[in-house]
Amino acid sequence: MDYFKIRGKTPLHGRIPISGAKNAALPILAATLLTDKMSTLLNVPHLNDITTMVELLGALGTDVAIDESMALKVSAAQVNNQRAPYELVKTMRASILVMGPLLARFGRAEVSFPGGCAIGNRPVDLHLKGFEAMGASIDVRDGYIVGSTENRLKGCDFTFDTVTVGGTENLLMAAVLAEGRTVLRNAAREPEINDLIAFLRGMGAEIEGDDTSTLVINGVSKLGANHYSVMPDRIEAGTFLVAAAATRGCVTVENANAEHLGIVLEKLRDAGVKVIVEGNSITADMTEGQLTSIDLITAPYPGFPTDMQAQFTALNVVAHGVGRITETIFENRLMQAHEMSRMGANITVDGHSVIIRGKSNIDGAPVMASDLRASASLVIAGLAANGETHVDRIYHIDRGYERIEEKLQAVGADIVRKSR
Ligand code: EPZ
Repeated sequence: MDYFKIRGKTPLHGRIPISGAKNAALPILAATLLTDKMSTLLNVPHLNDITTMVELLGALGTDVAIDESMALKVSAAQVNNQRAPYELVKTMRASILVMGPLLARFGRAEVSFPGGCAIGNRPVDLHLKGFEAMGASIDVRDGYIVGSTENRLKGCDFTFDTVTVGGTENLLMAAVLAEGRTVLRNAAREPEINDLIAFLRGMGAEIEGDDTSTLVINGVSKLGANHYSVMPDRIEAGTFLVAAAATRGCVTVENANAEHLGIVLEKLRDAGVKVIVEGNSITADMTEGQLTSIDLITAPYPGFPTDMQAQFTALNVVAHGVGRITETIFENRLMQAHEMSRMGANITVDGHSVIIRGKSNIDGAPVMASDLRASASLVIAGLAANGETHVDRIYHIDRGYERIEEKLQAVGADIVRKSR
């Protein structure tokens, strides 16, 4: 099993190119099921989760080819199977995103019930409630969710009890081919949803309400092909900016979109980091001044993203002062705190919050990743610590960060991938 061996205390300096967004590419790949025409996708990141989604599309009968420019050519013309198998779904919960397109185009979908994961139970009840509101019947049989509809899905006026990114994406993809008009209220507003909307519009979908929590979709009878470049990954960009600040370095992330990182950049500034935005480059400069602890509470977009919570926990660990970080989206997303304690961090878990008393020095130690963003936070802590840190179970990090050790090595980090 691979692990990272990190020697800390080297300030990071240089430029890091940002890859396409995992959480935009996944729903956009699922959306290719909505047409029998071939779509071309650019800037798709090379990540394990993307590979899993491509394998899932293949299992359904979709043809996926990668051309010499690394663009994905996807055609769902030959889809002959609407069953997403357990062995694939169990490795990636986002597999549930094929359900909306399959129901919309074929009137049938069988998706293995996605289990919970380290960060929480992560139910899909709102996805299913929405499909039923559109006329689908939903059963659970032998661990599979079986959705079917005799006729075309019907537009509906649906309000989400909780803001859900995946639920919004799934119902959006179901509604674009449904009969009539659908209104989705209390919808998620993450930038990745706007990227999916742009992709669907390019296929001929009729959608209004971008950037708002009310989406209005007029169903059409057929959708066409699209040629689309996936948005940059705001969480990858934010992760590297935090790593620069935690190591007292100066790093510029390229091909990033600062508009997607509004509150994250504000919090970096509150921590004393000099943040400069120039076009699609963002620089975090912590070579001068004092890194100061910050407080934050995670919330749906445009609030502070839960996917950046663990990284800011690592930042607070080596900042000056006391910071309180509260996680409101997932019930079990504070596990990195216990691992950081092993490095000497002064960190206390209080319900859904962590209270961190910053220290100028923490010490490297063997630590274990529990989920994607926790692993990134442990890499940041290792880069900021004295001595050597081993981050184990880094298969978590490979799900969401493309070649992270190479990108960090390019800005001076002493990090290598080793195998046991
Ligand atoms: C997406 O997950 C992201 N994943 C997550 O990123 C991200 O943390 C999350 O949105 C929140 O921003 C992808 O886009 C592939 P939710 P998703 O549905 O859609 C509850 C990463 O690190 N809920 O918005 O699964 C749920 O339990 C990953 O890249 C219901 O109760 O998240 C949670 O408490 C981790 N019923 C809250 O809503 C439902 O039917 C938000 O979940 C659906 C969700």
